[in-house]
Formats: sequence, C-alpha cells, structure tokens
Amino acid sequence: MNSLVKRMPKAELHLHIEGTLEPELMFELALRNRVALPFKSPDEVRKAYKFSDLQSFLDIYYQGTRVLLHDRDFYDLAWAYLQKAHEQNVRHAEIFFDPQAHTERDVPIQAIIEGIHDALRCGEQRFGISSRLILCFLRHLSGDDAMRTLEAALPYRNAFAGVGLDSSERGHPPEKFTKVFARAREEGLFAVAHAGEEGPPEYVWQALDRLGASRIDHGVRCVEDPALMDRLRTDRVPLTVCPLSNVKLRVFDSIRAHNLPHLLGAGLCVTINSDDPAYFGGYINENFEAVGEAFDLTPVQLWALARNSFEAAFVDDARRSALLTELEMVCQNNRR
Ligand code: HPA
Ligand code: ZN
Repeated sequence: MNSLVKRMPKAELHLHIEGTLEPELMFELALRNRVALPFKSPDEVRKAYKFSDLQSFLDIYYQGTRVLLHDRDFYDLAWAYLQKAHEQNVRHAEIFFDPQAHTERDVPIQAIIEGIHDALRCGEQRFGISSRLILCFLRHLSGDDAMRTLEAALPYRNAFAGVGLDSSERGHPPEKFTKVFARAREEGLFAVAHAGEEGPPEYVWQALDRLGASRIDHGVRCVEDPALMDRLRTDRVPLTVCPLSNVKLRVFDSIRAHNLPHLLGAGLCVTINSDDPAYFGGYINENFEAVGEAFDLTPVQLWALARNSFEAAFVDDARRSALLTELEMVCQNNRR
C-alpha cells in the first residue's frame, strides 16, 4: 500500500452502511437473530459476489440486509465500519442508510437511526471522526413511499443531516422525488443524489434542478454532455466517484478504462469513495490505491483528491479548516 495514501487524512462521502456488512458479521448476526442464510460460510458468500450490473448487485445487497433487525445490529455494523475508517485515516464520514430496506421488514425506524447514530457518536469520541448521516430514498419505490419514510424519520431529525437517492437507477428519474426533496430541504436537510452511474446525463440535470442536490453521487456519465460538464465545473458541484464499484458493476471494464482522468482534466471537483466496500473488494484506501496505480497519480494529484473530499464535505468552516490543516501537515512532511 502506498504509504502516502495511508497517511493522508481524508473524508469518505459515498458509503452505504449496509454495504459495509462483511460476510463474517453477516453470519454472526444471522446466528444471533436466527435468520437463515442461503450460504454455508463467509467464503461461500464472497464467491457469490459476481455482478453483471447494478441490479444484480442490489438483489444480493438487499438479501444481506435481512440479518439486520435490532438497534444493536445497526450499532455493530456502523461500529465495525468506524474501526476500519479509523485504520484508514478517514477523519470525516458521510454515511448513507436505506431505511426502506428495513422498515418493509417491520424493523422500527427508531432502531435503525438510533443504532447507527450511537455508533457515530462513539466514533467521534473514540477516534475523533466527525460524521453525518444521510437518509436515502429507494428510487425503485414510489415518491409517496419516500414521503412517508421522511415523515416517520422526522422525530429523529437531529440524528441525520441530509437526504439522498439510491437503488436501481434506470427507469427511475430523480424527478419522481421532487416533492419529498422539497420537503426535506424545508427541514434544513441537505440534498444529494445518485445520478449518472447507469442513468443518462439527463438524470444528473434533474438531480440538480428538480431535487436541489448540491453533490452528485457517481455522476460519471456527465462526460456525455458538454453543457452538463460546464455546469458542474462552474458551480463546483462535487462528484463522489467510486472506482472499484464502477468496475464491479461493469460501468467500466477496468480501472484503466475509468474516466477519472477525463473528469479531473475537465477541472471537476472529484472525490474518491468506496460505495459498498464489503461487496466491491476495498475500502477508501484501496480505491485510492487502484486509481493511483492505474493512472500513475503523483503525490500532488493524490493530495488534490483528498483536499476535494474536505471541500465537498458538509462541515462547518472551523472543521473544514482543521481538516485541511491536518492534510497540509502530512503533505509537508512528505516533501521533506
Ligand atoms: N448505486 C445505487 N444504489 C446503491 C448503490 C449503488 O452503487 N449501493 C447501494 N445502493
Ligand atoms: Zn452508492
């Protein structure tokens, strides 16, 4: 592992907490909660992780969530991630969760939110990792279902800071969720959305103009639309790119075929993230490593990516400048 990648403080801005469920913990929770799994061992689970596109992954991902039932399960899941994040020098994490994947199995929304939130508080106390929780709506479900989910979550408003949009992109345009995003923004929640992963550039425009998204998750298909590229550059809209995910889900054939150099060359604010690390074979540092190696990135280019992560984070000015200073110190030491 490139030691600069390891040492650089960084922000993780695109991470689904359910996507951090490692097969070992899946087995432990299945046993604890008496949930039957269609696998005999964690190794067998890993062997089943061969995906042909986003949907083939989501089918397995939602299967995995079935072991999560109680607040303690959500706590354990988030705590395991925070330990990993600490090891990788993540200093700030913005974490998605999918309440509808659990409430449809009659898990109370309070258990989900409070379990994750308690772990995040411990992560702040123990490791000094600041964090934000982002409630994602499943776009394959209806706008009304999303609205009911938001209303059910509002009693716990203090535990989350933003809303997002994920799940099957094709055929589910962001505009389906215009009303619920307006309601969320009225509550002072920030907005982000997955768009342009498998879906067309038009979905990125809708995420920006209909949903008021201030950051786009993935967004890699923006290169097909020069006017959109101009908009993203001019407004400095960050793209949270997930290289290993994009290869596993066949958005690109290989890391070398990824369009990251094109996005960077166009002057966009790109960040490197892990998406669903337990399923895609790597956390944030492995993602940095993969692009660093494939594109022969210089230390200056790696710092720029880490700096972008702090620029794109939803933190106050004091926290942002503290994080940037930490990064600057590591960079200076590297130069000596
Ligand atoms: N894309 C869309 N929805 C998701 C993903 C993703 O990569 N991971 C978990 N939900
Ligand atoms: Zn994602």
